[in-house]
Amino acid sequence: MNDLPKFLPIDKHFETKAIHASFNAADNPSLGVIPPIVLSTTFHQPDPMEPPHFQYGRYGNPNREMLEITLAALENAKYANCFATGMGAIGMVTHLLEDGDNILCIDDVYGGTYKYFEQIARKRGISITYADLTEEDNIEANMKPNTKLIWLETPTNPLMKILDIVGISKRAKKLNSNVLIVVDNSFLSSYFIRPLELGADIVAASLTKYMNGHSDVFMGITAHNSKDLNHTFNQLQGICGCTPSPFDCYLLLRGLKTLSCRMKVHMSNAYKVARFLEKHSMVEKVLYPGLSTHKGFHIAQQQWHGVGGMLSFYIKGDVKESIYFIQNLKLFSCGQSYGGYEGLVEIPMIMSHKPMPKEQLLKHKITGNLIRLSVGLESVDDIIADIEAAFKAVCTRFCTRLKKKSRCYNQRSETGVRTLRTVPLDFRFDSNSDWLRVAYLPIIVALSHKEINSEKFGSQLNVMKIIWMT
Ligand SMILES: Cc1ncc(COP(=O)(O)O)c(C=O)c1O
Repeated sequence: MNDLPKFLPIDKHFETKAIHASFNAADNPSLGVIPPIVLSTTFHQPDPMEPPHFQYGRYGNPNREMLEITLAALENAKYANCFATGMGAIGMVTHLLEDGDNILCIDDVYGGTYKYFEQIARKRGISITYADLTEEDNIEANMKPNTKLIWLETPTNPLMKILDIVGISKRAKKLNSNVLIVVDNSFLSSYFIRPLELGADIVAASLTKYMNGHSDVFMGITAHNSKDLNHTFNQLQGICGCTPSPFDCYLLLRGLKTLSCRMKVHMSNAYKVARFLEKHSMVEKVLYPGLSTHKGFHIAQQQWHGVGGMLSFYIKGDVKESIYFIQNLKLFSCGQSYGGYEGLVEIPMIMSHKPMPKEQLLKHKITGNLIRLSVGLESVDDIIADIEAAFKAVCTRFCTRLKKKSRCYNQRSETGVRTLRTVPLDFRFDSNSDWLRVAYLPIIVALSHKEINSEKFGSQLNVMKIIWMT
């Protein structure tokens, strides 16, 4: 962990709160050291005139209460309200708005939130303005008199853009002190960022990800410091009924006990993977907020307590290379989620961000060669070896395609010239990659063929020669 970048100090009491905030074995009637699961949907009222603390499960039950107390403690919030899914929590936050209100939202928001805003919120008369809020002047440029919510994610998904929550909150509140700043905190978890301490009004997040950490529970949260919001969200829990089961609350609370241990390993593994990818010849660019070269890194250092396990990178090639890379990974499952102990991988353009219109995807460079990794808790050397093996598989396939194209060149030189020029020839491999030199041999032979206009191919030929010589 020593070479990891420095962020804000970790909350020294985080683990104690995660384990003890809401449960004391001595108070448990059975004296069991873990909380019991109370499955009852309804509760006995000894006096019909005196409503008991718990009445009907949608409005609250012992497991949900324990979980909400712990979550509020971890977010450093006064209140937390749990919903059946992250999307449930997001939907409930938009219930704070009315016909004619506006949401100012980051322009590369999570695809599900985008879909909700476009397909549900708009039908309720709510308008949504999307803007790149890493450029802070865009707050003034895009806030309208009817803007009631500013919707942020940090880092954004999948581009890992870092937002200055302190700066955005100050600028937005200057224009309208009543505007609510909402931060979707699914990526970093309350271990690595606590947006309410930075000026946000509401944390809305999917607990399905890191907070639970085992890919076996759906849940969402709103956390805040407002008694009125607590009343509203509690009413929404009861009336809309988008609430988690006692068993899910039990599992989530269990997941929180190991959150800090998991997040530390997610971060150290992802950092090593990012450094590995950064140097890899098949990678065009790595997007990992823990790299000092990442735009906004200094903001993260001032506002975050660590980075987490999410990163994206552009593989050299296009969507076919991305798919083939993923199909050749053994330790990563291909799936849309993230934050579990196991590695997950996806192609945002055709998976999590598919709901976004094509022009928007391209505008934000969410292209087919962008791959998102949720780096898991497996041994990091194994993770890196797995990625390297998948790269080699992609490379072998490239070479096979090149072989075919070079044969095609020999038969029809004009089309061959065009075809060969599209091939990325600037891969550089370490000198141990004998297999690669062998794979490239037919291409070198093809390029050296007397029919080839060597001026057109001069620079590429040099690169090929270098590869061959090393
Ligand atoms: C940033 C973000 N917010 C919200 C959600 C929705 O959460 P859930 O799947 O728990 O409904 C997701 C899901 O992937 C997400 O990535």
